[in-house]
Amino acid sequence: MNYQEALSKLKQYGQEHVLAYYDELNDEQKQELLAQIADTDFSMLSSCKDEKKDEGRGEISPLAAMQLSEIEEKKAEFTALGLKAVKAGKVGAVLLAGGMGTRLGSDDPKGMYNIGITKDVYIFQRLIENLMDVVKQAESWIPLYVMTSDKNHEATVNFLKEHKYFGYNSDYITFFMQEMAPASDYEGKVYMEEKWKISTSPNGNGGWYSSMYKWGVAQKAMADGVEWLNVFAVDNVLQRIADPCFVGAVIAKDCACGSKVVRKCAPDEKVGVMCLEDGKPSIIEYYELTEELANAKDENGDPAYYFGVILNYLFKVSDLEKIREQKLPLHIVEKKIPYLNENGETVKPEEPNGYKFEQLVLDMIHELDSCLPFEVERNKEFAPIKNKTGVDSVESAQALCKENGIVL
Ligand code: UTP
Repeated sequence: MNYQEALSKLKQYGQEHVLAYYDELNDEQKQELLAQIADTDFSMLSSCKDEKKDEGRGEISPLAAMQLSEIEEKKAEFTALGLKAVKAGKVGAVLLAGGMGTRLGSDDPKGMYNIGITKDVYIFQRLIENLMDVVKQAESWIPLYVMTSDKNHEATVNFLKEHKYFGYNSDYITFFMQEMAPASDYEGKVYMEEKWKISTSPNGNGGWYSSMYKWGVAQKAMADGVEWLNVFAVDNVLQRIADPCFVGAVIAKDCACGSKVVRKCAPDEKVGVMCLEDGKPSIIEYYELTEELANAKDENGDPAYYFGVILNYLFKVSDLEKIREQKLPLHIVEKKIPYLNENGETVKPEEPNGYKFEQLVLDMIHELDSCLPFEVERNKEFAPIKNKTGVDSVESAQALCKENGIVL
C-alpha cells in the first residue's frame, strides 16, 4: 500500500491523524506504518458510538448444571471414560495467555507473575504442575497449545524455555499468536503507540480457535487425533486442566462442549451464568441479569441462574470446525491505553482512557447446540488472579493455594 492508498483508506474511517508524523519517519518506519494501515480493520471503531446500545437478548430459560452430588455418584465412570480419551491422545489443552493483565499492573505476561511466598512459584508453573497431575494419572503427555499475542509472545516463549517448561515435555508444547485490534479513544479515533505504529491490543480470547487454525496448529492437532480441546485462562492458579472426570462427563452426555461452573457465592457476584437463550446454550453476564432472572427458581425451587462460568471449557473439535468462520459479537471494553500525546511523548494513563475491541470465548458457546455445565467446588478449583489485592487477587489466590496444601 502506498501513501495515497493509505490516506484514502484512513479518510474513509476518519483516521487521517495516523499519518500526522509521516514526514518525520525514516523509510523503514514509513513502510511499517503503511503495512499496518493496510492490515488494520478500522470498521470496528465505528461501534464505539453504539456502545451503550442494548443489543437485546433472546428468550432466556434455565440450563440445568450437573451438580456435585451427581458427579460424585458417577465419578468412577466419568473418570475412566475421560482417562481413556486422554491416554488415546484425544484431549489437548489450550492456555489462553494473550491477555494484557492490565488490572494486575505488571508489564510482563501474567503467567510470569511470581505468587511465591517462601520460594518462587510462577503462575505458569502452577498451571503446568496442575496439568502434570493428569499427565501422571494417564501416563501420557497431553498436547498443550499456548496462545500469546504480539505484546507478550517473545517474553512468554523465552520465560518458559528458560525455566525448562517447568518439567513439561516441550515436544508437546506449541505456541501460536492471536490477532490484534486497534485501540481507540472514546470518540473512536485510534491511538498511536509510536509515530509509526497504531496502538493495538489483543482482540480478546474469542478468536483463539481461528488463530489456532490460521497458524496451522488446529490442523496439526486434528491430524494428531485431538478430538477435544480444553480451553482455560492463565489466571486461575487452582485450574484443573484436562480433568478426566469433566472430559468423561461431557463425552458421556454427548455434548458439543462443557463448561466448568461454580455455585455463585452471592446473588450479585460478578460472574456470567449459564442459561439457555432461544433454546441454545448461552452465558448471561452479571450486568444483564435482571431482578426477575436473579430471583427465578428452577423446578426444585433452587435459584435457576446460579452457576457461574470460570473460563474452563471443553470443546469438541469437530463442532468447532463448524463454527470456525462464524463472526462473534464485538465487545467494547474500557481500558488504560498507553498513547503518544500531541507532543509525541508516550503517556501511560492511570485511569481508563479509551476502548479495546474484543471477541469472547463465552460467545462461542451460543453457536453450539449443546453444553454441559459441570459444577466444581470453588474453593478447590477457582483462584483467579485479576488484581494485586482484594477480590480475585494475588492475596486471595495465595490463601486458596494454602487451603489446598500448595506450598508457596
Ligand atoms: P481477562 O478478561 O482477565 O483479560 O482475560 P486480561 O487482558 O488478561 O486482563 P485485564 O482485563 O487487562 O486485567 C481472561 C483470559 O483470557 C485471556 C487472558 O490471558 C486470560 O487468560 N485473554 C484475554 C487472551 O488470551 N487474549 C485476549 O485478548 C484477552
